[in-house]
Amino acid sequence: MKNYISLLIFALFPFIVSAQNDVDDTAYPTLRTFTTQEDHANMMEQLGITELRPGPSGNPSAPNAANYDPSIADPCPELPALMVTDDGKKVTSPAIWWNQRRPELIEGFEKEVYGRIPENVPDVDWKVEIVDNEWIGRIPVVAKKVTGYVDNSAYPLIDVEIEMMVVTPSNVEGPVPVLMMFGNPRFPAPAQPNRDDLETINESFKAAMIKNDPAMKEMFEKYPAYQPIQAGQSGPNWWAPAPNGDSPGSEQLLANGWGYATISPASIQADNGAGLTRGIIGLTNKGQPRTPEQWGSLRAWAWGAARGLDYLETDEDVDATKVGIEGVSRYGKAALVTLAFEDRFAVGLIGSSGKGGATLHRRVFGEAVENITGSGEYHWMAGNYLKYGAEQSEFGKMTGCDIPVDSHQLIAMAAPRLTFISYGIPEEGDALWLDQVGSYQASIAAQPAFILLGAEGLGKSNDYMNEVMPEPQTNLMDGELAWRQHIGGHTDQPNYQYFIPWASEKLGYEVKR
Ligand code: GCU
Repeated sequence: MKNYISLLIFALFPFIVSAQNDVDDTAYPTLRTFTTQEDHANMMEQLGITELRPGPSGNPSAPNAANYDPSIADPCPELPALMVTDDGKKVTSPAIWWNQRRPELIEGFEKEVYGRIPENVPDVDWKVEIVDNEWIGRIPVVAKKVTGYVDNSAYPLIDVEIEMMVVTPSNVEGPVPVLMMFGNPRFPAPAQPNRDDLETINESFKAAMIKNDPAMKEMFEKYPAYQPIQAGQSGPNWWAPAPNGDSPGSEQLLANGWGYATISPASIQADNGAGLTRGIIGLTNKGQPRTPEQWGSLRAWAWGAARGLDYLETDEDVDATKVGIEGVSRYGKAALVTLAFEDRFAVGLIGSSGKGGATLHRRVFGEAVENITGSGEYHWMAGNYLKYGAEQSEFGKMTGCDIPVDSHQLIAMAAPRLTFISYGIPEEGDALWLDQVGSYQASIAAQPAFILLGAEGLGKSNDYMNEVMPEPQTNLMDGELAWRQHIGGHTDQPNYQYFIPWASEKLGYEVKR
């Protein structure tokens, strides 16, 4: 059926296809189409790197297997100071934190780790494309498909359209808090036409098919009662069980009076090196490769999330002072980067984020800096990050121990806002590769910033080398910084049932029905 529909679209609207070709390509710099390997090599050349160390293997029986021996996992245990300014002053007041220390940390992460957003980054114009009243089980919702059109007048060869779906419950009094998730925006349960409307649609659809292929007339006469388009499930399902801790996080949110938004990372920036001359990064560079200080995909996704929040600020169903950001794995990294840099996000659920996320860069346990500097993952970071995997270069050899900042400081940049660090367990598939212990150390070491700013940490000492990661299912959730490992795999779904009441309480949200 899909084929018929696209055939029809092409037959009826040929101008759609040609309209895109109106741009005069010759008036702009040629869009560079690098392969990932070419782009990676280009960045090495810009940095004067001739050899990168290969990353260790995730396969334990490989000759270059990653290290899982805790006794050699901390080659440089002394972390860069959190509560001392670059000029050696102790950070003793919130004023010093906000005016000096946090800006220094932002500078460090922008320059060496995640990259800077170019000043010419264009504006985004949000449009509500479709509003649909739907039912998810017994919960009525409003689903809005919104698109952020990025102004590409400076370089029309690249289109960036940010896709987002915003779903809010309509059985509670709004405006409601919303958790934005990196994921695939789609209508949860599109409303279906009623019987009469479906009949009209089918008549018209049959007529269009016959017009396209007259032989269809005979076909439909052979099966006179046949309806090519069948009714889908629609409306309330009062028999649906109430969402519980095993239900998808989105349903648990709705059942607790929250909304959710799903934002598509790929619509902002591709998840590979070849895409760096396109997407929002390529648009600001007019189709040319990055320079070493410019942003990578994680920062680009975070920028897109912040633009999504711009939209939410205009949506009257949403309480934009209570918007969170969520992601798992590479999107867990992106969620932490978003929360750390964009202080309009009130809360973050950071799932299994590993290296480049909550885990300490300088730890050598499971995934290493060298895995990221290789060609499969380097696009997440600023080009400058490659320096820390360099074996031979104009500046000599560097390792993770040379990175001037580390992830405890990134977590601290989110303080005093609500920061929930979530993992599963290796036995259930949340691999040791992610280095849960390194994330726990970073969380412990981030506490002083939360405390200085009047919030609470994990309720532990700041001794990140000696505090022992608690058993799975231990809730360290009394403070604004929270830690929980669920008994499950590479997902944060089992932690939603803990996250939601924690976030509601700390944000002072009471559902009004
Ligand atoms: C790999 C990578 C991780 C990443 C993960 C994912 O395992 O090494 O850093 O988080 O993929 O995003 O799925």
